[in-house]
Amino acid sequence: MAKWLDDAVFYEIYPQSFKDTNSDGIGDFGGIREKLDYIKELGCNAIWMNPCFESPFGDAGYDVSDYYQTAARYGTNDELKKLMDGVHDRGMHILLDLVPGHTSTAHKWFRESMKAEKNEYTDRYVWTDNIWEAPEGPGSLRGISDRDGSCLVSFFSHQPALNYGYYRPEKPWQQAMDAPGPRATMAELKNIMRFWLNAGCDGFRVDMAHSLVKGDEDGKGTIELWREIRAFLDKEFPEAAMVSEWGEPDKALAGGFHMDFLLHFGPSHYNDLFRCEEPYFSGWGKGDVSEFVRKYQENYEKTDGRGMICIPSGNHDMARLARTIHGNELKVAFAFLLSMPGAPFIYYGDEIGMRYVEGLTSVEGGYDRTGSRSPMQWDSSINAGFSLAGEETLYVPLDPDPGRPTVEGQMADPDSLYQEVKELIAFRQGHPALKNRGDIEFIYAEKNAYPFVYLRSAGDERVLVVLNPSGEPASFACEYLLSDKLRTFGGEATVKDGEATVPGGFYGFYRV
Ligand code: GLC
Ligand code: CA
Repeated sequence: MAKWLDDAVFYEIYPQSFKDTNSDGIGDFGGIREKLDYIKELGCNAIWMNPCFESPFGDAGYDVSDYYQTAARYGTNDELKKLMDGVHDRGMHILLDLVPGHTSTAHKWFRESMKAEKNEYTDRYVWTDNIWEAPEGPGSLRGISDRDGSCLVSFFSHQPALNYGYYRPEKPWQQAMDAPGPRATMAELKNIMRFWLNAGCDGFRVDMAHSLVKGDEDGKGTIELWREIRAFLDKEFPEAAMVSEWGEPDKALAGGFHMDFLLHFGPSHYNDLFRCEEPYFSGWGKGDVSEFVRKYQENYEKTDGRGMICIPSGNHDMARLARTIHGNELKVAFAFLLSMPGAPFIYYGDEIGMRYVEGLTSVEGGYDRTGSRSPMQWDSSINAGFSLAGEETLYVPLDPDPGRPTVEGQMADPDSLYQEVKELIAFRQGHPALKNRGDIEFIYAEKNAYPFVYLRSAGDERVLVVLNPSGEPASFACEYLLSDKLRTFGGEATVKDGEATVPGGFYGFYRV
């Protein structure tokens, strides 16, 4: 089942900002199709594309108004199919972004559910039974409908929550998971998945997958819901891959997801690595990787053999990697990202060290996320090769820095981050121990200390990974001679009397 995930290295595309082919300032399916060879050449063999469906774009497309129709600005349903064909022709795979938890207020289901008369959509969303009672949760909508009640939202206030029921209904308006309203929502969700799987997508990245059943603190109801979806897929689309935005792999994988992300929210300590005041992967950090490792190990043990934990380079919701760390720090960071178990995910542009663009006005509900959503920098031509539109019509302004990195520039430079990332991907794919399913054992991950050392293994291959992102040499007790060097950066390790010392700004891979 979805065996391809075992070798998958993902590239996340934010379609608005990747490549514009009709000069309206917004990226499109045609642009992505043009750049498939670029993604393949980098070594990525799988794509996750952010939502591309009809939407008023109050949250960059995470506010869907028709799940069965692509947004005109990207192209037609047929053009999306053509893009997916292009992906498959290259032996690659693509996940679409499924937003099951909420729609836009502009969705016809919501407009129907606002009506006072009972109809097919009355129970499609989570409504209380009188306007003065607000449901518990991130917020609610009231005073906008003839219907007497408040509607729960799941993120922004224009994103009403679809009704999958309450784990333990307590109030009269709270419906059980098996009540007709929630069952109808489930049936529709399956239809949407069927529609796009039949059209050729290889599975889904699932938005806010943890949040569907309400009043469900431990996630038990939501896990049950996803198990039902998995059973449906096993029957009708056994090859469909499912990746969750959950942030708690033990729960997500229990729900039948193949993979879950560690993210900037949740208990994972992911932020300790790159996104805090003293990131572990920086030359100045007094960084601490031990809490991250403790949580990782906890998840790893709980999910053993059942699925994968993915550590993305970034995504459309967090600051770019290159906002905090630079130059060789990025190379050491990628040596980590590309040598951990689980499928790697590279956010578009991170492979060239694209910067977070500071100080931008929010675009389509981006707020502080907008700076991570600027147009891809292809070359030194007009608008960095992203679009021929006038500069002021670009979806998000380009990084204004004259020294901004470009694909063209980095391809021509043998020492660039792009080359490093490309080589690291090829290196990973050449070593089963380093691939998605290889095992990991942490050898040295002490509190406030460097280096960071772990052992990856698969079959009879064992690769020791030594990372020292700090500015200073660092040592660890080492039972190996490190004589079989596979790949190093930033100098060499020395081993004496059972202690290995490595320079600062260093990574090394050794067969042991
Ligand atoms: C997820 C998406 C984010 C979106 C939110 C609401 O976190 O990644 O971009 O705003 O869900 O759908
Ligand atoms: Ca366009």
